[in-house]
Amino acid sequence: MKKWIPVLIVMLVLVAGFVVYGSSDHSDGQEYESESMAAQAEGASESQSGDAAESDSNILVAYFTAAENSGVDAVSSASVTMIDDEPYGVSQAVANMIAEETGGDLFSIQTNVVYPADINELIDYVAEEQDEGVMPELTTHIENLDDYDTVFIGFPIWWYDMPQVMYSFFDEYDFSGKTIIPFTVHNGSRLSGTPATIQELEPDAVVIEDGFSVSQGNAADAAADVAEWLDGLEYQED
Ligand SMILES: Cc1cc2nc3c(=O)[nH]c(=O)nc-3n(C[C@H](O)[C@H](O)[C@H](O)COP(=O)(O)O)c2cc1C
Repeated sequence: MKKWIPVLIVMLVLVAGFVVYGSSDHSDGQEYESESMAAQAEGASESQSGDAAESDSNILVAYFTAAENSGVDAVSSASVTMIDDEPYGVSQAVANMIAEETGGDLFSIQTNVVYPADINELIDYVAEEQDEGVMPELTTHIENLDDYDTVFIGFPIWWYDMPQVMYSFFDEYDFSGKTIIPFTVHNGSRLSGTPATIQELEPDAVVIEDGFSVSQGNAADAAADVAEWLDGLEYQED
């Protein structure tokens, strides 16, 4: 019996954390069109969702965010962050900041799975998806990966890991010889060991362990931290 006590405590903390998360000030009932979210992806730089990007950058900033993969007509405001009165997926917002600093091309990782817009349903759905090891089908594809030497790859931490769709992503591409720089958004788990996971999936890529991570609540104001981190990595444009 005693050996279950730590497990129970962890479960209780987790549930409490997600209840707080779900009822936080992000859940104000507003809804946003997911199409407008996709349009926002065209922020700082070129954006691509399958077609070859038209820039000559050798840097790609690929990201997955719930907001661009939720209910067709609307997404819960729990999945977005507001910047200059515009809604962005949280990981998308950080991707935009990195693209702006580096001049890299943006790529939105999308799947045919329509994730529940309701946060509690999403949490349950993702737990089951992870338990069953589902590999969601990708609906956007990088056609010109050869053009890129450096690939920033960002995603939310879901249940202490990458979203399952990221396993599909790393299954689809061979990043051998390229540099992968991970970034995450989270509610406390930071990178949650994901650089090591990516290195296992892409053994012949150089995976930078010092990835960027920011909590959901701080993401909208993370531009300066992103710039400082990039400066340390020496990937910032002059
Ligand atoms: C299904 C689900 C599971 C989550 N699991 C974790 C977790 O294990 N650790 C953590 O710190 N945050 C967790 N979060 C919080 C997300 O990482 C956070 O909300 C993030 O900002 C979402 O980014 P996005 O809006 O770009 O999808 C979880 C959120 C969801 C929806």
